[in-house]
Amino acid sequence: MTQPSDAIFTLHSGLLREAPGSDASTLRALGLTGLGGEVTVADMGAGPGAATLLLARALPGAWITAVDTHEPYLDTIISRAAAAGLISRIGTLEQDMVGPGFMDGSLDLIWCEGAVYFVGLERALRHWRPLLRPGGRIVFSEVIWLGPDRPKDAELFWMEYPDMTDRAGVIRRIEAAGCRLISDFVQPESDWRAYLGPLGTRAAELRPGADETLRAVLDGAVQEAELFERHGDSYGYAFFIVEAAS
Ligand SMILES: C[S@@+](CC[C@H](N)C(=O)[O-])C[C@H]1O[C@@H](n2cnc3c(N)ncnc32)[C@H](O)[C@@H]1O
Repeated sequence: MTQPSDAIFTLHSGLLREAPGSDASTLRALGLTGLGGEVTVADMGAGPGAATLLLARALPGAWITAVDTHEPYLDTIISRAAAAGLISRIGTLEQDMVGPGFMDGSLDLIWCEGAVYFVGLERALRHWRPLLRPGGRIVFSEVIWLGPDRPKDAELFWMEYPDMTDRAGVIRRIEAAGCRLISDFVQPESDWRAYLGPLGTRAAELRPGADETLRAVLDGAVQEAELFERHGDSYGYAFFIVEAAS
C-alpha cells in the first residue's frame, strides 16, 4: 500500500508547476521589485523550478539558489537548467526554507511561490528579513480569501490551511514580521487553470492503476478543481512584494 506522502508525490511528479501561477505573473511581480543586474536570489520551496528558471532568464546577471526539502525536485531543476543553458547561474540546496543557511545580508531577492504556507508567513518573513541586503525584496504568492463571501464548502476545503486569511490579514503578518508591503496583485484565474489543468490530466492517467491511498489523493485533486469551478471567485492566489521596514 502506498504511503499518503508518496501518493502526493506520485500525483505531482512530472508537473512543471506545483501551485497556481504563470510566467506572466512571475514577471509582473519581478517588475514590481525594481531589481535587476547582478543580484543574488533564493527561490524558497522552488519545487520543479518554474520560477527558478524564469527568474534566471529574466535576470541574466543573477545567481539563483533553489531551496527545497524534496530532493527529486532539485534534481529536476538541475536537469532543466542544464537543458536551458542556465546551469552556470543556478544552484540547489536541499534545506528547510526557514533554516537554509544563507548569511545575513547576503540576498537581494527572496522568492517564494505557493510554498510559504508550509512554514507560516510571519515565521518565514522573520527568518528571511535579516538575510536581505539593503534594498532587498521578498516576493511571495499566497492563497487568500478575496472578500467576505466564504461559501461553506470552500471553507471546509480550506480547513487544510487553517491560517488562510485575506489581504488585510496578510498585510498584518507582513508588518508583524518587521516588513512593509510595496505592492500586491491578485493573480488571474488563468493561473489556476495552468496548475489545475495538468494536475487533472495526470490524476486521470493515474486512476486506472491506483490503490486506495492514491485514489484518495486523486479524489482530492478532483475536489480541488471542482471547488474552483464553483467558488473560485471567493478565494485566489495573490503576489505580495515586500521589503524590510527598517
Ligand atoms: C506547492 S509546491 C510549490 C512549488 C513551486 N514554488 C511552484 O510554484 O511550482 C511547495 C514546495 O515547497 C516545498 N517545501 C515544503 N515545505 C518546505 C520547507 N519547509 N522548506 C523547503 N521547501 C519546502 C515542497 O517540497 C514543494 O516543492
